[in-house]
Order: sequence, then structure tokens, then C-alpha cells
Amino acid sequence: MRIVAHLSDLHFGRTDAAVVDGLIADLARHKPDLAIISGDLTQRARASQFTEARAFLARLPCPAVIVPGNHDLAPIYRPLSRLLAPRARFRRHLAGHDVWPIWTDEEIVAIGLDSTRPFRWTSGKLRTRHLDHIQRVVTASNGAACRIAFLHHPHTHAFGHSFEALVRRDIDLILTGHVHHAHVGLITGPDNATSILIQATTACSTRLRADANGYGLIHIDMPHIDVALQGWSGEAFHPIGRFRFEKRPDGWAELTI
Ligand SMILES: [Fe+2]
Ligand SMILES: [Fe+2]
Repeated sequence: MRIVAHLSDLHFGRTDAAVVDGLIADLARHKPDLAIISGDLTQRARASQFTEARAFLARLPCPAVIVPGNHDLAPIYRPLSRLLAPRARFRRHLAGHDVWPIWTDEEIVAIGLDSTRPFRWTSGKLRTRHLDHIQRVVTASNGAACRIAFLHHPHTHAFGHSFEALVRRDIDLILTGHVHHAHVGLITGPDNATSILIQATTACSTRLRADANGYGLIHIDMPHIDVALQGWSGEAFHPIGRFRFEKRPDGWAELTI
């Protein structure tokens, strides 16, 4: 069994310190094996904001794999950096975190895809090279492991290839962020193949839209995956939603709980 914490859209530079402390406390309580962070660690890719993000990563009770979000690229008001080296700050400040991260152990294979586009601000892209990369990693991985793809942009914002292409490549779980709105459900691809889609809200920033701050705790014990959404009440994180899925010969099914 593995517990994966899915965090997104931290936005250091625009965070609430009480929520950040509450998040660390909740993670310490649940002891995840791995944290997957699907982008927007900073508000404006400033050095001070990456320093805060790095300090946060150091406080996590587990290893983390991360991909950049649109806010982590060199900002548009620095057009030369944006043009020539949009991901240089991410790489420099989060040394050791590749923009194409992979985590593998006996039970999970997590593949990070950098969906950001330097010449667009809010839309992302799932490119052919992402899909080729997925195919290579999946082919080389333990067939019984749970396959996870994570990227910043959700289905509606990742232009080009749609997420059905991930379903076709036997991805079990797709984790995204960007829209600051939580969603858990199934996505159907060709031949009725299915993957589980989990979109996280912002974990700790004050850039709230419809949802409170929150994150996902994903319990993986194949062929079952349980998702617990944790939400900020104003004082602490509490469970606010539970979902259970089962992998069957014909694909993933959502169970009622
Ligand atoms: Fe964001
Ligand atoms: Fe974003």
C-alpha cells in the first residue's frame, strides 16, 4: 500500500502562513510515502518565492516530485528570460527537481509532464514527446504497479492531445491543478478504457476561487484506489470528500461508499 499526497498551486508569495503550517501538520499526521506537486509553487517565479517553496519542501515528511506550472516560468514582464530560458529559475532554485520527474518503486510509477507553454500564459499542452516519454516509462515499468501521470494543466486547458491519449497509454491516475478547483472522477478513452482524474484546488494560497484550500490523500492498494480530499476549515485540514475506485478487467469503476 502506498499513500500519495497530491498538492497543487502552492503559490508562495501569496500564501496564508496558518494554512501552510496546517498543511505540514496534516501531512505529518497522515505520513504519505510520496508528495506529488502539480505546479504553481510560486506566484511570480521570484527568487524569494522559490526559497519559500524550497523551505516548504524541506518540511515535508516524505520525498516530493514536482512539475512547473505557468506561474513558475520566467514572468512575461521579463520577455528576454521568458523567451530564452523560461524554466531556468525553476531548475536553479529547485535543484534536484527535473522538469521531467519520474518516481518508481514496487507499487507506483509516477511520471511528471511539463505542460507549460512559455508563449501562452494560462493554457498548457500535452505534446507528442510527453506521450512518447509516457510510453517508454510505462513499457519499462513493473506491470502490476499503479501508473500515475501528473501535470499542471487540466483536461480543458491542455490543448493539442487530449487526456484520452493518456488513458490509451494505460495510465491509472491523472493528477492536475491550475484551476484552483477540486474534482475527482473517471475519464473514458478509446475502447471504453478508463483512468481516474484528480484535480486539486490550491493547497495553501490566498488565490481562492470556488473551493477552500485543500489537497488529496490517495491510498493505493491495487486494484483499489481510495481518494480522501482534505479541506481547510479555518483551523485545520479535515476530510471533506471520499471516493473509492476498483480496477476491473474492463477498466476502472467508481464504487459507492
Ligand atoms: Fe495556480
Ligand atoms: Fe496555473
